Amino acid sequence: MMKYFSVAFTSVMTNVMAILLFSNAIAHHNSPESLEARVAAVGTLNIDVGSAGAGAATNESDSAAAEDGETVYNTACATCHAGGIAGAPILGKVDDWKERIEQGMDSLVEHALLGFTGSSGVMPPKGGNTSLSDSAVTAAVQFMIDQVK
Ligand code: HEC
Repeated sequence: MMKYFSVAFTSVMTNVMAILLFSNAIAHHNSPESLEARVAAVGTLNIDVGSAGAGAATNESDSAAAEDGETVYNTACATCHAGGIAGAPILGKVDDWKERIEQGMDSLVEHALLGFTGSSGVMPPKGGNTSLSDSAVTAAVQFMIDQVK
């Protein structure tokens, strides 16, 4: 869920920065065209804030956590874990996961967050996507475990 808030926040910040840059340009050119453009820019900000808010609200459904885990897996983990690239345990393949799951969820999450070098290869911290939140990675691990239960 944090992911959606940060996406919304980033989109708002991008617009605020665009307007700040714009206002700066207007200060130097007081032509009617600039004024029109300035009004248009403010209009854009309102539309974007509205749609970002609606997106965040829509994603707060009951199954948001489960969906998030799958989404994170698909975007950041499937590259290796779908086909067993670089020695990664394959999604849904019990033989690949049985012993790993026996060590417990805490250890699996820690290995996913901090990275892990085992007998079959190297799991990079957060799958190499360090911008992911800890809770997003945890949800992805939970999703992966759920596929072999
Ligand atoms: C660059 C390839 C790669 C990506 C991307 C990747 N993994 Fe892995 N992962 C591996 C490999 C290789 C292993 C096995 C390491 C070993 O046991 O030798 C592994 C192992 C794991 C394990 C088992 C750790 C253990 O203790 O046995 C978990 C859990 C895991 N990955 C979660 C994730 C999650 C969650 C993501 C996405 C956020 C992800 N991985 C993305 C390569 C990857």
